[in-house]
Amino acid sequence: MVYREELPYDEGLDNTLSFMKEGYLYITNRRKRFNRDMFKTRLLGGKQVVCIAGKEAAEVFYDNDRFKRQGAAPSRVLNTLFGKEGVQTLDGKAHEHRKTMFMNFMTKDSLHEIANLVEEEWMKALTKWEKQESVILYEEVKKILTVAICRWTGVPMNDQDINTFSEQLASMYESAEKVGLKHFKGKHSRKEVEAWLEQLIGDIRAGKSVAEEHTPFYQIAMHHDVDGVLLEKNTAAVEVLNLLRPTVAISVYVALSGLALHNFPHQKDKLKAGDETLYKMFVQEIRRYYPFFPVAPAVVKKDFLWGGHDFKEGTLVLLDLYGNNHHPDLWENPNEFAPERFKEWDKSPFDLVPQGGGDYVTGHRCAGEWLTITVMKKCTDIMVNKMDYKVPEQNLSISMNQMPSVPKSGFIMSNVKQI
Ligand code: HEM
Repeated sequence: MVYREELPYDEGLDNTLSFMKEGYLYITNRRKRFNRDMFKTRLLGGKQVVCIAGKEAAEVFYDNDRFKRQGAAPSRVLNTLFGKEGVQTLDGKAHEHRKTMFMNFMTKDSLHEIANLVEEEWMKALTKWEKQESVILYEEVKKILTVAICRWTGVPMNDQDINTFSEQLASMYESAEKVGLKHFKGKHSRKEVEAWLEQLIGDIRAGKSVAEEHTPFYQIAMHHDVDGVLLEKNTAAVEVLNLLRPTVAISVYVALSGLALHNFPHQKDKLKAGDETLYKMFVQEIRRYYPFFPVAPAVVKKDFLWGGHDFKEGTLVLLDLYGNNHHPDLWENPNEFAPERFKEWDKSPFDLVPQGGGDYVTGHRCAGEWLTITVMKKCTDIMVNKMDYKVPEQNLSISMNQMPSVPKSGFIMSNVKQI
Protein backbone atom coordinates (compact mmCIF):
# COMPACT_ATOMS: atom_id res chain seq x y z
CA MET A 1 0.00 0.00 0.00
CA VAL A 2 1.50 3.35 -1.05
CA TYR A 3 1.52 6.07 1.63
CA ARG A 4 -0.77 9.02 0.92
CA GLU A 5 -1.85 11.87 3.19
CA GLU A 6 -4.32 14.70 2.64
CA LEU A 7 -2.39 17.99 2.32
CA PRO A 8 -3.28 20.84 4.68
CA TYR A 9 -5.16 23.58 2.87
CA ASP A 10 -4.96 27.34 3.37
CA GLU A 11 -8.67 28.16 3.27
CA GLY A 12 -9.91 30.88 0.93
CA LEU A 13 -10.95 31.35 -2.68
CA ASP A 14 -7.85 33.43 -3.45
CA ASN A 15 -5.09 34.07 -0.91
CA THR A 16 -3.04 36.43 -3.11
CA LEU A 17 -3.71 39.33 -0.73
CA SER A 18 -2.35 37.36 2.26
CA PHE A 19 0.66 36.41 0.15
CA MET A 20 1.30 40.09 -0.66
CA LYS A 21 0.76 41.11 2.97
CA GLU A 22 2.94 38.45 4.57
CA GLY A 23 5.45 38.43 1.72
CA TYR A 24 8.55 36.32 2.37
CA LEU A 25 6.86 34.78 5.43
CA TYR A 26 3.58 33.68 3.79
CA ILE A 27 4.76 30.10 3.25
CA THR A 28 6.82 29.89 6.48
CA ASN A 29 3.83 31.05 8.56
CA ARG A 30 1.61 28.31 7.14
CA ARG A 31 4.32 25.66 7.36
CA LYS A 32 4.53 26.46 11.06
CA ARG A 33 0.76 26.48 11.47
CA PHE A 34 0.27 23.16 9.64
CA ASN A 35 3.48 21.67 10.99
CA ARG A 36 4.30 20.48 7.45
CA ASP A 37 6.63 21.55 4.68
CA MET A 38 3.91 21.15 2.07
CA PHE A 39 0.41 22.62 1.76
CA LYS A 40 -2.19 23.67 -0.81
CA THR A 41 -3.47 27.17 -1.37
CA ARG A 42 -5.17 29.29 -4.02
CA LEU A 43 -3.31 32.23 -5.56
CA LEU A 44 -3.34 34.44 -8.68
CA GLY A 45 -7.10 34.55 -9.17
CA GLY A 46 -7.96 31.30 -7.40
CA LYS A 47 -5.46 28.97 -9.07
CA GLN A 48 -4.63 25.76 -7.10
CA VAL A 49 -1.03 25.98 -5.95
CA VAL A 50 1.13 23.61 -3.89
CA CYS A 51 3.84 25.23 -1.75
CA ILE A 52 6.84 23.14 -0.73
CA ALA A 53 10.01 23.64 1.32
CA GLY A 54 13.01 21.67 2.57
CA LYS A 55 16.07 20.07 1.05
CA GLU A 56 14.31 17.00 -0.37
CA ALA A 57 11.53 19.20 -1.73
CA ALA A 58 14.15 21.31 -3.56
CA GLU A 59 15.68 18.14 -5.02
CA VAL A 60 12.28 17.08 -6.36
CA PHE A 61 11.51 20.61 -7.61
CA TYR A 62 14.70 20.65 -9.71
CA ASP A 63 14.01 17.23 -11.25
CA ASN A 64 13.37 17.93 -14.95
CA ASP A 65 11.38 14.72 -15.35
CA ARG A 66 8.84 15.99 -12.84
CA PHE A 67 8.68 19.74 -13.45
CA LYS A 68 8.76 22.17 -16.35
CA ARG A 69 8.95 25.97 -16.55
CA GLN A 70 6.80 26.70 -19.58
CA GLY A 71 3.66 28.40 -18.30
CA ALA A 72 4.99 28.74 -14.73
CA ALA A 73 5.71 32.49 -14.55
CA PRO A 74 2.68 34.83 -14.34
CA SER A 75 2.37 37.37 -17.16
CA ARG A 76 3.10 40.33 -14.85
CA VAL A 77 6.52 38.77 -14.16
CA LEU A 78 7.15 38.14 -17.88
CA ASN A 79 6.20 41.75 -18.69
CA THR A 80 8.70 43.23 -16.24
CA LEU A 81 11.28 40.91 -14.69
CA PHE A 82 11.90 38.11 -17.21
CA GLY A 83 10.75 39.23 -20.66
CA LYS A 84 9.16 36.79 -23.10
CA GLU A 85 10.81 33.67 -24.59
CA GLY A 86 13.89 33.99 -22.37
CA VAL A 87 15.88 31.09 -20.91
CA GLN A 88 13.66 31.09 -17.81
CA THR A 89 10.69 29.86 -19.86
CA LEU A 90 12.48 27.04 -21.71
CA ASP A 91 12.66 23.32 -20.94
CA GLY A 92 14.67 20.29 -22.05
CA LYS A 93 17.24 20.52 -24.84
CA ALA A 94 16.21 24.05 -25.85
CA HIS A 95 16.88 25.22 -22.30
CA GLU A 96 20.18 23.38 -21.97
CA HIS A 97 21.46 24.81 -25.26
CA ARG A 98 20.55 28.42 -24.33
CA LYS A 99 21.80 28.01 -20.76
CA THR A 100 25.16 26.70 -22.00
CA MET A 101 25.59 30.00 -23.84
CA PHE A 102 25.12 31.88 -20.53
CA MET A 103 27.38 29.62 -18.53
CA ASN A 104 30.12 29.96 -21.18
CA PHE A 105 30.29 33.68 -20.32
CA MET A 106 31.10 32.86 -16.69
CA THR A 107 34.79 31.95 -17.03
CA LYS A 108 37.37 32.61 -14.32
CA ASP A 109 38.89 35.39 -16.44
CA SER A 110 35.59 37.09 -17.16
CA LEU A 111 34.65 37.03 -13.47
CA HIS A 112 38.00 38.59 -12.69
CA GLU A 113 37.25 41.21 -15.34
CA ILE A 114 33.85 42.18 -13.89
CA ALA A 115 35.41 42.54 -10.43
CA ASN A 116 38.06 44.89 -11.87
CA LEU A 117 35.47 46.93 -13.76
CA VAL A 118 33.33 47.31 -10.65
CA GLU A 119 36.35 48.46 -8.65
CA GLU A 120 37.36 50.94 -11.35
CA GLU A 121 33.86 52.46 -11.52
CA TRP A 122 33.48 52.47 -7.71
CA MET A 123 36.79 54.31 -7.23
CA LYS A 124 35.74 56.93 -9.82
CA ALA A 125 32.45 57.42 -7.99
CA LEU A 126 34.24 57.63 -4.65
CA THR A 127 36.11 60.78 -5.69
CA LYS A 128 32.70 62.37 -6.38
CA TRP A 129 31.19 61.13 -3.11
CA GLU A 130 34.05 62.75 -1.17
CA LYS A 131 32.74 66.14 -2.33
CA GLN A 132 29.14 65.39 -1.31
CA GLU A 133 27.60 65.64 2.13
CA SER A 134 26.07 62.20 1.82
CA VAL A 135 25.23 59.49 -0.70
CA ILE A 136 22.55 56.80 -0.93
CA LEU A 137 24.50 53.60 -1.41
CA TYR A 138 21.73 51.62 -3.15
CA GLU A 139 21.18 54.36 -5.76
CA GLU A 140 24.90 54.92 -6.37
CA VAL A 141 25.73 51.23 -6.72
CA LYS A 142 22.97 50.78 -9.31
CA LYS A 143 24.85 53.26 -11.52
CA ILE A 144 28.27 51.71 -10.87
CA LEU A 145 26.97 48.25 -11.77
CA THR A 146 25.15 49.53 -14.87
CA VAL A 147 28.37 50.96 -16.31
CA ALA A 148 30.44 47.93 -15.28
CA ILE A 149 28.06 45.36 -16.79
CA CYS A 150 27.64 47.37 -20.01
CA ARG A 151 31.42 47.45 -20.39
CA TRP A 152 31.63 43.71 -19.56
CA THR A 153 28.90 42.67 -22.01
CA GLY A 154 29.98 45.11 -24.73
CA VAL A 155 26.65 46.99 -24.76
CA PRO A 156 27.56 50.54 -25.90
CA MET A 157 26.57 53.24 -23.44
CA ASN A 158 27.38 56.29 -25.59
CA ASP A 159 23.83 57.34 -26.39
CA GLN A 160 22.42 56.44 -22.97
CA ASP A 161 22.10 58.70 -19.97
CA ILE A 162 23.46 56.63 -17.09
CA ASN A 163 20.93 57.84 -14.50
CA THR A 164 17.99 57.06 -16.77
CA PHE A 165 19.39 53.76 -17.98
CA SER A 166 20.22 52.40 -14.53
CA GLU A 167 16.73 53.40 -13.35
CA GLN A 168 15.16 51.64 -16.34
CA LEU A 169 17.07 48.44 -15.59
CA ALA A 170 16.28 48.64 -11.87
CA SER A 171 12.58 49.29 -12.46
CA MET A 172 12.32 45.89 -14.22
CA TYR A 173 13.11 44.01 -10.97
CA GLU A 174 11.64 46.63 -8.63
CA SER A 175 8.22 46.46 -10.30
CA ALA A 176 7.51 42.72 -10.74
CA GLU A 177 5.09 42.35 -7.81
CA LYS A 178 3.95 45.97 -7.71
CA VAL A 179 0.61 47.26 -8.93
CA GLY A 180 -0.40 50.53 -10.61
CA LEU A 181 2.15 53.12 -11.66
CA LYS A 182 5.25 51.25 -10.47
CA HIS A 183 4.28 48.16 -12.44
CA PHE A 184 3.55 50.27 -15.50
CA LYS A 185 6.97 51.92 -15.16
CA GLY A 186 8.73 48.53 -15.16
CA LYS A 187 6.73 47.32 -18.16
CA HIS A 188 7.39 50.53 -20.06
CA SER A 189 11.13 50.46 -19.26
CA ARG A 190 11.38 46.90 -20.55
CA LYS A 191 9.60 47.82 -23.80
CA GLU A 192 11.88 50.81 -24.40
CA VAL A 193 15.15 49.08 -23.59
CA GLU A 194 14.24 45.94 -25.57
CA ALA A 195 13.47 48.12 -28.62
CA TRP A 196 16.84 49.91 -28.30
CA LEU A 197 18.72 46.61 -27.96
CA GLU A 198 16.83 45.06 -30.89
CA GLN A 199 18.04 47.94 -33.07
CA LEU A 200 21.65 47.37 -32.01
CA ILE A 201 21.31 43.60 -32.52
CA GLY A 202 20.10 44.36 -36.05
CA ASP A 203 23.21 46.53 -36.55
CA ILE A 204 25.51 43.74 -35.32
CA ARG A 205 23.85 41.31 -37.73
CA ALA A 206 24.27 43.81 -40.55
CA GLY A 207 28.03 43.80 -39.88
CA LYS A 208 28.24 47.22 -38.22
CA SER A 209 30.88 47.50 -35.51
CA VAL A 210 28.67 47.77 -32.43
CA ALA A 211 30.39 45.23 -30.15
CA GLU A 212 33.57 43.18 -30.44
CA GLU A 213 33.18 39.53 -31.38
CA HIS A 214 34.35 38.09 -28.07
CA THR A 215 31.77 40.05 -26.04
CA PRO A 216 28.57 38.49 -24.61
CA PHE A 217 26.51 41.12 -26.49
CA TYR A 218 27.90 40.03 -29.86
CA GLN A 219 27.67 36.33 -28.92
CA ILE A 220 23.99 36.65 -27.94
CA ALA A 221 23.16 38.71 -31.04
CA MET A 222 24.64 35.95 -33.23
CA HIS A 223 23.38 32.99 -31.15
CA HIS A 224 21.60 30.13 -32.93
CA ASP A 225 18.98 28.16 -31.05
CA VAL A 226 19.08 24.39 -30.62
CA ASP A 227 17.34 24.00 -34.02
CA GLY A 228 20.06 26.06 -35.72
CA VAL A 229 17.93 29.18 -36.22
CA LEU A 230 19.21 32.66 -35.29
CA LEU A 231 17.33 33.96 -32.23
CA GLU A 232 14.45 36.36 -32.88
CA LYS A 233 15.80 39.89 -32.30
CA ASN A 234 13.43 40.37 -29.37
CA THR A 235 14.53 37.10 -27.76
CA ALA A 236 18.18 38.13 -28.12
CA ALA A 237 17.34 41.49 -26.48
CA VAL A 238 15.61 39.64 -23.62
CA GLU A 239 18.72 37.50 -23.10
CA VAL A 240 21.03 40.56 -23.11
CA LEU A 241 18.74 42.00 -20.45
CA ASN A 242 19.14 38.73 -18.54
CA LEU A 243 22.75 39.85 -18.01
CA LEU A 244 22.22 43.60 -17.49
CA ARG A 245 19.12 43.69 -15.24
CA PRO A 246 20.16 41.14 -12.58
CA THR A 247 23.67 42.55 -12.37
CA VAL A 248 22.18 45.94 -11.48
CA ALA A 249 20.07 44.07 -8.91
CA ILE A 250 23.24 43.07 -7.06
CA SER A 251 23.00 46.66 -5.72
CA VAL A 252 20.31 45.29 -3.38
CA TYR A 253 22.81 42.85 -1.85
CA VAL A 254 25.46 45.59 -1.68
CA ALA A 255 23.09 47.89 0.26
CA LEU A 256 22.28 44.95 2.56
CA SER A 257 26.03 44.29 2.98
CA GLY A 258 26.43 47.94 4.05
CA LEU A 259 23.63 47.37 6.55
CA ALA A 260 25.23 44.17 7.91
CA LEU A 261 28.65 45.84 8.28
CA HIS A 262 26.87 48.56 10.27
CA ASN A 263 24.68 46.27 12.39
CA PHE A 264 27.40 43.69 13.09
CA PRO A 265 30.58 45.76 13.53
CA HIS A 266 32.53 42.77 14.89
CA GLN A 267 32.08 41.15 11.48
CA LYS A 268 33.58 44.26 9.89
CA ASP A 269 36.59 44.01 12.22
CA LYS A 270 37.04 40.35 11.32
CA LEU A 271 36.92 41.14 7.62
CA LYS A 272 39.49 43.92 8.02
CA ALA A 273 42.01 41.39 9.24
CA GLY A 274 40.60 38.59 7.12
CA ASP A 275 41.36 36.70 3.94
CA GLU A 276 39.35 35.69 0.86
CA THR A 277 37.59 32.84 2.72
CA LEU A 278 36.09 35.21 5.29
CA TYR A 279 34.75 37.45 2.51
CA LYS A 280 33.17 34.44 0.82
CA MET A 281 31.55 33.38 4.12
CA PHE A 282 30.23 36.91 4.74
CA VAL A 283 28.74 37.11 1.24
CA GLN A 284 27.11 33.66 1.54
CA GLU A 285 25.51 34.71 4.81
CA ILE A 286 24.18 37.94 3.28
CA ARG A 287 22.56 35.86 0.53
CA ARG A 288 21.14 33.37 3.05
CA TYR A 289 19.99 35.77 5.76
CA TYR A 290 18.36 38.63 3.84
CA PRO A 291 15.31 38.17 1.64
CA PHE A 292 15.43 38.58 -2.14
CA PHE A 293 13.23 36.31 -4.26
CA PRO A 294 10.58 34.64 -2.09
CA VAL A 295 9.80 31.64 -4.32
CA ALA A 296 10.58 29.86 -7.58
CA PRO A 297 7.61 28.60 -9.66
CA ALA A 298 7.34 25.42 -11.78
CA VAL A 299 4.54 23.33 -13.28
CA VAL A 300 4.10 19.56 -12.80
CA LYS A 301 5.13 17.89 -16.07
CA LYS A 302 3.41 14.55 -15.49
CA ASP A 303 1.61 12.95 -12.52
CA PHE A 304 3.86 11.69 -9.73
CA LEU A 305 3.61 10.75 -6.07
CA TRP A 306 5.96 12.33 -3.54
CA GLY A 307 5.76 12.89 0.22
CA GLY A 308 2.35 11.22 0.35
CA HIS A 309 0.86 13.67 -2.18
CA ASP A 310 -0.27 13.07 -5.74
CA PHE A 311 1.16 15.89 -7.85
CA LYS A 312 -1.15 16.25 -10.83
CA GLU A 313 0.06 17.31 -14.27
CA GLY A 314 -0.34 21.08 -14.82
CA THR A 315 -0.34 22.04 -11.10
CA LEU A 316 1.64 25.14 -10.20
CA VAL A 317 4.19 24.48 -7.46
CA LEU A 318 6.15 27.12 -5.52
CA LEU A 319 9.47 26.30 -3.88
CA ASP A 320 9.98 28.42 -0.75
CA LEU A 321 13.43 29.92 -1.46
CA TYR A 322 13.40 32.23 1.56
CA GLY A 323 12.05 29.36 3.66
CA ASN A 324 14.88 26.99 2.68
CA ASN A 325 17.46 29.64 3.54
CA HIS A 326 15.93 29.81 7.03
CA HIS A 327 14.79 26.23 7.49
CA PRO A 328 15.45 25.06 11.08
CA ASP A 329 16.32 21.53 9.84
CA LEU A 330 18.99 22.95 7.56
CA TRP A 331 20.54 25.80 9.56
CA GLU A 332 21.40 26.18 13.21
CA ASN A 333 19.83 29.34 14.64
CA PRO A 334 18.62 30.31 11.17
CA ASN A 335 17.54 33.80 12.22
CA GLU A 336 21.00 34.74 13.47
CA PHE A 337 23.51 36.49 11.20
CA ALA A 338 26.51 34.17 11.45
CA PRO A 339 28.90 33.93 8.48
CA GLU A 340 30.93 31.37 10.49
CA ARG A 341 28.28 28.74 9.66
CA PHE A 342 29.76 28.54 6.17
CA LYS A 343 33.06 27.18 7.49
CA GLU A 344 31.46 23.75 7.86
CA TRP A 345 28.92 23.98 5.05
CA ASP A 346 28.83 20.92 2.73
CA LYS A 347 27.95 23.05 -0.34
CA SER A 348 24.65 21.27 -0.95
CA PRO A 349 22.90 22.63 -4.08
CA PHE A 350 19.53 22.36 -2.28
CA ASP A 351 19.77 24.20 1.06
CA LEU A 352 21.27 27.63 0.24
CA VAL A 353 18.95 28.64 -2.60
CA PRO A 354 18.65 32.47 -2.81
CA GLN A 355 19.43 32.12 -6.52
CA GLY A 356 17.74 28.78 -7.05
CA GLY A 357 19.15 25.28 -6.62
CA GLY A 358 20.25 22.20 -8.54
CA ASP A 359 22.47 22.17 -11.60
CA TYR A 360 23.49 25.27 -13.56
CA VAL A 361 23.30 23.84 -17.08
CA THR A 362 20.51 21.28 -17.01
CA GLY A 363 18.47 23.18 -14.41
CA HIS A 364 17.25 26.72 -13.85
CA ARG A 365 19.70 27.68 -11.13
CA CYS A 366 20.79 31.32 -11.57
CA ALA A 367 23.33 31.74 -14.38
CA GLY A 368 24.86 34.71 -12.58
CA GLU A 369 25.44 33.22 -9.14
CA TRP A 370 29.26 33.19 -9.42
CA LEU A 371 29.20 36.69 -10.88
CA THR A 372 27.00 37.85 -7.99
CA ILE A 373 29.35 36.38 -5.39
CA THR A 374 32.41 37.85 -7.14
CA VAL A 375 30.89 41.33 -7.34
CA MET A 376 29.63 41.20 -3.74
CA LYS A 377 33.07 40.18 -2.46
CA LYS A 378 34.66 43.06 -4.34
CA CYS A 379 32.13 45.62 -3.07
CA THR A 380 32.47 44.39 0.53
CA ASP A 381 36.25 44.60 0.28
CA ILE A 382 36.01 48.21 -0.92
CA MET A 383 33.56 49.18 1.85
CA VAL A 384 35.78 47.56 4.49
CA ASN A 385 39.28 48.45 3.29
CA LYS A 386 39.20 51.31 0.81
CA MET A 387 36.81 53.83 2.25
CA ASP A 388 35.70 55.41 5.47
CA TYR A 389 32.19 56.73 6.11
CA LYS A 390 29.66 57.57 8.77
CA VAL A 391 26.16 56.15 8.96
CA PRO A 392 23.84 59.01 10.00
CA GLU A 393 20.42 58.58 11.65
CA GLN A 394 18.06 57.09 9.07
CA ASN A 395 15.37 54.46 8.59
CA LEU A 396 17.32 51.23 8.17
CA SER A 397 14.36 48.89 8.50
CA ILE A 398 13.78 46.29 5.83
CA SER A 399 10.36 45.12 4.80
CA MET A 400 9.26 41.50 4.69
CA ASN A 401 6.64 42.20 2.04
CA GLN A 402 8.48 44.37 -0.46
CA MET A 403 10.59 43.02 -3.28
CA PRO A 404 13.42 43.87 -3.36
CA SER A 405 13.83 44.42 0.35
CA VAL A 406 16.47 47.15 0.69
CA PRO A 407 16.90 49.31 3.82
CA LYS A 408 14.12 51.95 3.65
CA SER A 409 16.66 54.80 3.39
CA GLY A 410 18.67 53.01 0.69
CA PHE A 411 21.57 53.10 3.21
CA ILE A 412 22.87 56.66 3.50
CA MET A 413 26.60 57.21 4.04
CA SER A 414 28.05 60.61 5.01
CA ASN A 415 31.61 62.01 5.34
CA VAL A 416 32.78 59.52 2.73
CA LYS A 417 36.58 59.37 2.34
CA GLN A 418 38.94 57.20 0.40
CA ILE A 419 41.57 55.46 2.59
C1 HEM B 1 21.08 40.01 -7.55
C2 HEM B 1 21.36 38.80 -7.32
C3 HEM B 1 20.59 37.69 -7.98
C4 HEM B 1 19.57 36.97 -7.47
C5 HEM B 1 18.96 37.09 -6.08
C6 HEM B 1 19.17 36.03 -8.48
C7 HEM B 1 18.18 35.08 -8.32
C8 HEM B 1 17.80 34.19 -9.30
C9 HEM B 1 16.77 33.20 -9.15
C10 HEM B 1 15.95 32.95 -7.88
C11 HEM B 1 16.65 32.54 -10.32
C12 HEM B 1 15.64 31.47 -10.67
C13 HEM B 1 16.01 30.11 -10.16
C14 HEM B 1 14.96 29.10 -10.54
O1 HEM B 1 14.06 29.41 -11.32
O2 HEM B 1 15.01 27.99 -10.07
C15 HEM B 1 17.59 33.13 -11.25
C16 HEM B 1 17.73 32.75 -12.56
C17 HEM B 1 18.55 33.40 -13.46
N1 HEM B 1 19.47 34.38 -13.18
FE1 HEM B 1 19.79 35.24 -11.38
N2 HEM B 1 19.94 36.22 -9.59
C18 HEM B 1 20.83 37.22 -9.34
C19 HEM B 1 21.82 37.68 -10.17
C20 HEM B 1 22.00 37.30 -11.48
C21 HEM B 1 23.02 37.80 -12.34
C22 HEM B 1 24.12 38.76 -11.91
C23 HEM B 1 22.81 37.24 -13.58
C24 HEM B 1 23.57 37.40 -14.84
C25 HEM B 1 24.68 38.11 -14.98
C26 HEM B 1 21.64 36.39 -13.47
C27 HEM B 1 21.10 35.66 -14.50
C28 HEM B 1 20.09 34.74 -14.35
C29 HEM B 1 19.53 33.95 -15.45
C30 HEM B 1 19.94 34.05 -16.90
C31 HEM B 1 18.57 33.10 -14.88
C32 HEM B 1 17.71 32.10 -15.60
C33 HEM B 1 18.33 30.71 -15.47
C34 HEM B 1 17.51 29.62 -16.09
O3 HEM B 1 16.29 29.77 -16.21
O4 HEM B 1 18.09 28.59 -16.46
N3 HEM B 1 21.19 36.46 -12.19
N4 HEM B 1 18.29 34.11 -10.60
